[in-house]
Amino acid sequence: MFRNTVLLSLAASAKLAAAGLYPGITPHNHTCALVDPILSCSAAADPSKVDSCCTETFGGLVLITQFWDTYTGLEKDGQLLPQKAWTIHGGWPDFCSSKYTQYCDLSRQYDPKPSPNTTTGTPDGTPVPPYKGESIDKWFVPNGKADLLAYMNRHWVSQLDPNWVLWAHEYSKHATCFSTFQTECYGPNYSKFDDLFEFFETVIRYHRTLPTYDWLSAAGIKPSNKTSYSVAKIQKALSDSYGQPPFVGCGGPKYNETEAGKGSLDNGGTVLNEMWYYSNVLGRLQDQKALRLPASVGGRLTSCAQAENAVWYYERTNGSEFR
Ligand SMILES: *[C@@H]1O[C@H](CO)[C@@H](O)[C@H](O)[C@H]1NC(C)=O
Ligand SMILES: *[C@@H]1O[C@H](CO)[C@@H](O)[C@H](O)[C@H]1NC(C)=O
Ligand SMILES: *[C@@H]1O[C@H](CO)[C@@H](O)[C@H](O)[C@H]1NC(C)=O
Ligand SMILES: *[C@@H]1O[C@H](CO)[C@@H](O)[C@H](O)[C@H]1NC(C)=O
Ligand SMILES: *[C@@H]1O[C@H](CO)[C@@H](O)[C@H](O)[C@H]1NC(C)=O
Ligand SMILES: *[C@@H]1O[C@H](CO)[C@@H](O)[C@H](O)[C@H]1NC(C)=O
Repeated sequence: MFRNTVLLSLAASAKLAAAGLYPGITPHNHTCALVDPILSCSAAADPSKVDSCCTETFGGLVLITQFWDTYTGLEKDGQLLPQKAWTIHGGWPDFCSSKYTQYCDLSRQYDPKPSPNTTTGTPDGTPVPPYKGESIDKWFVPNGKADLLAYMNRHWVSQLDPNWVLWAHEYSKHATCFSTFQTECYGPNYSKFDDLFEFFETVIRYHRTLPTYDWLSAAGIKPSNKTSYSVAKIQKALSDSYGQPPFVGCGGPKYNETEAGKGSLDNGGTVLNEMWYYSNVLGRLQDQKALRLPASVGGRLTSCAQAENAVWYYERTNGSEFR
């Protein structure tokens, strides 16, 4: 309810659209060094009591998410995947209840393909207008971020769209719904690049602590087009490494629509393609102090088929990886 009220008031006034999550907050006095960090989703993480720039008060259940794609579809343009590494999907601010919202500040809308196309995902939500400006990857070099651009082109890789479309989507859909990435947190001289680059860098920092490929590999689980795996084994290997079970995501054909699963009631996916790592954060997301949580806080541990050896962790297509 609160969220809808905010979003509707944003829609009602173009001027307010710049206000983000908490209309009325000023760009002054958000010096987080002066306050004790508070754990997101704890009772103390209340925006009426603490500075929402210094404690995550809006989307306190954080997901760091990764993809396993086997091709990009844009190989001819040099858009390739990193060897022996999962790629970044994003950093998501779920509510502590595990529900979520998106596109929280339409003044920071750079997503050319908004999905969903309204703030609520239903026809009565505020429409999210497609971004029609220049590709945001043009903003890196002039801001001294050529190294970040190179890293992102290697590790934050899109499928069937140029990489920047995924970056813009993740930023506009999700970064705008973290209280600590609100523009007011950056002071009166905020520039649109401040939170944009800080968001990308923050997600990368977390991603670098989550080497899914290596964790699976150490447990003998390597991409193969000949051998399939049990989701329980994948889940166990990652729980042992992360300390908590992540959400293991599968797409592809449902198990009971495949020859192997014919007649069974197991309709989980058979192609491993996503990993979501859950946490609460102490202070700002930017501060990298995560309290790791089991994916069960989000409602389920996997979308994969449970049957023995029902899951394929496919090898990348020849020519789809950087050499
Ligand atoms: C910022 O903090 C200073 C020092 O405590 C105080 O005098 C000032 O009123 C505050 N400004 C705002 C806009 O809150
Ligand atoms: C959103 O997408 C749906 C389905 O394609 C379409 O019917 C609807 O008109 C779109 N709404 C907006 C605001 O673009
Ligand atoms: C920063 O913003 C303040 C308030 O708008 C302004 O007075 C000051 O000149 C700005 N400083 C710079 C370096 O732009
Ligand atoms: C697959 O499993 C689901 C859920 O158990 C069931 O509703 C569906 O009928 C099954 N489909 C087939 C083709 O067996
Ligand atoms: C492995 O299988 C996947 C899925 O069918 C396919 O996309 C990929 O190209 C295959 N990789 C190799 C090296 O054959
Ligand atoms: C992919 O490359 C491997 C090793 O070079 C080769 O054995 C395999 O036949 C290739 N697969 C396809 C689908 O081209």
